[in-house]
Amino acid sequence: MNEASARSDPDAVLRARGVAVSLGGALVLDGVDLDVPPGAIVGLIGANGAGKTTLLRVLLGILSPQAGRVQRPDRRAGIGYVPQKISLDPHAPLRARDVVMLGLDGARLGIPLARRRLRGAVDDALAQVGATAFADARVGELSGGQQQRVLLAHAIVRRPALLLLDEPLASLDPVSARDVVALLDEVRRRSGVAIVVTAHDLTLLLPVLDRVAYLASGRAAVGTPAEVVRDDVLSALYGRPMRVIEAAGRTFVVADEAVTTA
Ligand SMILES: Nc1ncnc2c1ncn2[C@@H]1O[C@H](COP(=O)(O)OP(=O)(O)OP(=O)(O)O)[C@@H](O)[C@H]1O
Ligand SMILES: [Mg+2]
Repeated sequence: MNEASARSDPDAVLRARGVAVSLGGALVLDGVDLDVPPGAIVGLIGANGAGKTTLLRVLLGILSPQAGRVQRPDRRAGIGYVPQKISLDPHAPLRARDVVMLGLDGARLGIPLARRRLRGAVDDALAQVGATAFADARVGELSGGQQQRVLLAHAIVRRPALLLLDEPLASLDPVSARDVVALLDEVRRRSGVAIVVTAHDLTLLLPVLDRVAYLASGRAAVGTPAEVVRDDVLSALYGRPMRVIEAAGRTFVVADEAVTTA
């Protein structure tokens, strides 16, 4: 079932083995293996409560698993993280560029030359995500899609080797979501950053995913989309008949009776 464990990637930016987590007495993750190759986009897909956020927190190193181990880049410099459900106060006097600058914390109070260099890094990050036009707007007044771009710029401003994004498409309309998916693809192409992105629905992300980790019942089916997004693999994972359907140029995963969100 777990293809990644059979095909360990020696160059992996991140390598997780046998990750097990119990929360509130329940086993949320039960022996998850995952390799993230350099520059790859890896989708963590699963229903609400499947353990996506929990796994991201383990990968980031802010939650210690009961079992297993994770090899990751240095957290402060090497990993960018955008948590699920950040709400930006519409009245906060923060401009988009201020939010990005906060991604450089610690280093920001410096001599004028350093300040200029930091401003350059902020401008670069804003440009990379197509946010230059609203760099001076208050973040609380931006649309959901624009805010997502600013948060992405915040996460990449240190030029990390790895980005962990928790449900970046969740509050976006389908057009904005598609734009953000295209943006993720562009950012990794330009910068070579590896991206782990969670979603409850595979459909929008699939075209840009190099690897998929499908989560259900604490277990993960991991591999390339062709290895994982299959009737037999997903049926075994969910313990009930699942079907993969191609329609309108997209791929949908459906349960026997109804379209599922996982
Ligand atoms: N601090 C906690 N204490 C107890 N249980 C928790 C805690 N955090 C998460 N859980 C439980 O762990 C399970 C996995 O939660 P998690 O947030 O990782 O799921 P998720 O896949 O990210 O879901 P969603 O799609 O809703 O974001 C859920 O059953 C949740 O209730
Ligand atoms: Mg979550």
